[in-house]
Amino acid sequence: MARVLSVSGSPSASSRTARLLRHLDGFLRAQGHEVSVLDVRSLPAGPLLAAEFGHPAIVGAARAFAEADGVVVGTPVYKAAYSGLLKTLLDVLPQHALAGKTVLPLATGGSTAHVLALDYALRPVLTSMGAAHVVPGWFVVDKDLVVEADGSLTIAPGTAETLGQVTDTFARALHTAFPSPLPVG
Ligand SMILES: Cc1cc2nc3c(=O)[nH]c(=O)nc-3n(C[C@H](O)[C@H](O)[C@H](O)COP(=O)(O)O)c2cc1C
Repeated sequence: MARVLSVSGSPSASSRTARLLRHLDGFLRAQGHEVSVLDVRSLPAGPLLAAEFGHPAIVGAARAFAEADGVVVGTPVYKAAYSGLLKTLLDVLPQHALAGKTVLPLATGGSTAHVLALDYALRPVLTSMGAAHVVPGWFVVDKDLVVEADGSLTIAPGTAETLGQVTDTFARALHTAFPSPLPVG
């Protein structure tokens, strides 16, 4: 099974995007994939903003990408594009940090008027970073993601179904690119 890095680009401490990714992480783990998490907001701001490529946190983030077979990239839509926080990370990664990888782009936003941000703004960057396959992504309207009092996430039924299909397509693309080894014996 594949190693998946799940990256949230939201600066928010109570991020719906991050909660959505954690939900989808569970789906991927249930399929046998090994999922690790990178919340960009947990990286030190100084090295990100000053593009300190050699800082241990930046080196560690780059290593996490290098070790992944597949990457889920989630971002809130800010000013009709992906978040500036996500950009600070993408800027300090090697140009071909996504080489050979299968990538699932996801966005959450307040208005479907900005659904194109996923394909106009984020997808070209992911492609330019060498992604072998950027599978169809999905834009989720924030009102379809309800954070309950206990912190759990409730996803509107139609959206949950679509997200299941999108994640399934990603998982199948991973399986094609990184087939499980045949059982021994
Ligand atoms: C500074 C800021 C700018 C935003 N700009 C947009 C926008 O241009 N288009 C849009 O659809 N939503 C916009 N939103 C709404 C967020 O994308 C949306 O609420 C998202 O789900 C927040 O995700 P998060 O909780 O993971 O940070 C903006 C929100 C903020 C705080």
